[in-house]
Order: sequence, then C-alpha cells, then structure tokens
Amino acid sequence: MKVRPFSRRQFVGGVAATIGALSLRRDAELLAQGQTAQFTGGEAEYDAFVKLASNENNYGPPPSVMKAMNDAWKYANRYGYPDGNVIQVIADHHGVKRENVLLTAGSGEGLNVMATTYLGPGKKVLGVSPSYASVFQQAANVKAGSIQLPLTKDYRQNISAMIEATNRNARDIGFVYMCNPNNPTGAVVTAKEIKDLLDNIPKDMPVLIDEAYHHFVDDPAYGTAIPFVLEGRPVVVARTFSKIAALAAMRIGYSIAPAEMIRDMRIYASNSVNVLAKWGAVASLKDKAAEADVKAKIVDMRNKTTKVLESWGYPVIPSQANFFMVSLGERQVQGVIEEFRKKGILVGRPFPPMLNHLRVSVGTAEDMEAFMKAFKEIFPQKAATAARG
Ligand SMILES: Cc1ncc(COP(=O)(O)O)c(C=O)c1O
Repeated sequence: MKVRPFSRRQFVGGVAATIGALSLRRDAELLAQGQTAQFTGGEAEYDAFVKLASNENNYGPPPSVMKAMNDAWKYANRYGYPDGNVIQVIADHHGVKRENVLLTAGSGEGLNVMATTYLGPGKKVLGVSPSYASVFQQAANVKAGSIQLPLTKDYRQNISAMIEATNRNARDIGFVYMCNPNNPTGAVVTAKEIKDLLDNIPKDMPVLIDEAYHHFVDDPAYGTAIPFVLEGRPVVVARTFSKIAALAAMRIGYSIAPAEMIRDMRIYASNSVNVLAKWGAVASLKDKAAEADVKAKIVDMRNKTTKVLESWGYPVIPSQANFFMVSLGERQVQGVIEEFRKKGILVGRPFPPMLNHLRVSVGTAEDMEAFMKAFKEIFPQKAATAARG
C-alpha cells in the first residue's frame, strides 16, 4: 500500500480558492477575533471566569506531572537535553515503533500537518459537520476544499454516507477526517463502524482519526483506531495531552501512523515541543492512577449534571467526552452564551446548524454548581414547571 502525499510542485500559482474555502476563512477570522475579545479584560477577568468553553481539564495537571515539569526547568537554556525519552515512551505505550510516532505541539499541529501533507489545490478533506473544524480550516489555508456531511438525526457520524461520498469523490479526496468521540456532540463511532469505513473505501485512502477525547470513553463498542495502524492501513491517529493530562497550554500531542506516512508528515512538523511539555507528558503516561482519578471525577460530574438538566426538561445528547450538548428548546444559543458570560461563565461557541444546542465542558464540582445555578436563572420557567411536575 503506497499513500501519496500531495505534490506541491504540480500547482504553481493560478489556482483560485473555492468560495467554500473563502467563507471558512472568514468564519475562522471571526472566531479568532471573538476568542481574543473574550479576554480583553486581562488576567484578573480571565481568572474570575468559570471556564466551560474549550473542553479543558479544569482540575489542572496532577502533582506527578507538575513535579516532572518543575524538575525540567534546569534544561530551559539548552537546545539538546534529556527529554525523558518521550518518543520511546509514547511508542511503548501503544506497542508501536519510534518511526510510527510524530510528536507535535498539541494534537492540533498534527491535524494541520496532515492537511498540509495530503491536501492542496484541487484536493478535499471529507468529514462531518459539526465536528472539530480545524482540519477544514487548514484545508482552506492550503487552498484545498472540504466535503462536510451532515450528522444523522440522532447526531451520529453517518458511516454509510461517508463511505458513499468517499468512493464517489475518491479522486479528489486527500484524506477522510473522523473525530472520535466527536466534538461538539460527544458521540462515538464504534470500532466496527471504523472497520466498515476502512474496508469499504479505497485501500490507499488516508484516514485521520482524532482521538483527543479517547480517555473519557466508557462505551465498550468504542475502540481506538491504533490497531488499524498496526495492520498497516493508511490510518493516522491523533492524540493529545491537553485534555486528560490538563496540559493544553503546554502544547504537546502526537500522531501514530505507518512509518511511511510519518516520514511524509514530518517534513511539515515544527519540531517545537518544549522541554517542560515533554517531561510532563512522560510523567502523565506513567501516572495511571491520576488518569483514572480525573476521568472518574469528570465522567461522574458529567453524568450527574446531565441527569439534572434532563429532569428539568432539557434533553442532552449522550456524551462519552468531557463535554456535552444540551438542547435549549426554542432558544437560540448565541443569546444564551452571552447571558452565561454576564454571569461570569464561559460556555461553548455556536456550532451551526445546531443553533438550539449549547456545548458545555465539564469542570469541577464548584464550576458545575455555578453553571447549574446560572442555567436555572436563565431558564427559570421550564425548570420550575418540570420541578412542579
Ligand atoms: C477534537 C479535537 N481535536 C484536537 C484538538 C486540539 O487540541 P490540542 O492542539 O490542544 O491537542 C481539540 C481541542 O479542543 C479538539 O477538540
């Protein structure tokens, strides 16, 4: 099986960006401006907010990870330094070889590198919408397009539609993107569905599976896609330390893929992961007790919160991640986001076309208490009616 990266030399100038690509870029600019605007009040304002907008881990890194990072400061002045053997530790963790690992500055860099490697003018990435849109944005950045299929009625990724569209457009598609569990819904694709997809599209079609929220999943039908890499299929699995290990600001993640694909992708990687992040990541992979502890706390808090929201008459999409989407009935999400913000709570942005749903990240018990209090104030009538009933 030979997977060909996009050849940049074939396209020297003269290729117009698609209208889709242009509007995506505009969306991204607005989003970027919105995010900057959120924090213009400076550090004190930022610190005071209850942060449930970005699927971060509000518990922060565990003590073992903090210690490893603190101990690594002594290498801050070096270019070459002991790095905890981070690549080997990751390879061993997954039972792969070093040549199957690409270390990236957050898994987001891996997603961008994938798009740069396998897309270009005339090519497209195929995925669903809403999903984590960064790959679609990077496609636009490299003057490629995207095919974004709608979710099913129950907010799942439509595997048979993905298979059909991939085959129909195979010549144009640079790779298929699947976020599992999906952001923003929290819904999983089962291991069997992933196998169905891989078995029924061209054998050399690259598939990127984004497992940023892997560590929160309990559903036994779910499975990581790493075994498909071991089988030699053209599968790239992206993982991050931003979520379960609470290292979002440290920027460290990685991709696991067949060696040939890693070689092609490495050309576009920044090689910019810092020493603290490397040592923190190694410590987090070793501290299984801390991982289990934070997972249990977050899943328990998610389940408790969503149960109460449902009892108040607000259905929640079943989630396997550290966030969930609640239906707001008739209310439009944009105004609701602003109301929460006025009460000092940051919640997720709108995810068109799901404009009557709000995405909420799961924080600490204190964070969720503040969220539920505000929710009750913003949605008083329905909550009161449900409580009476
Ligand atoms: C699905 C998904 N993939 C990737 C990322 C990127 O995260 P990071 O670059 O911090 O690893 C995120 C961030 O929220 C995400 O939700």
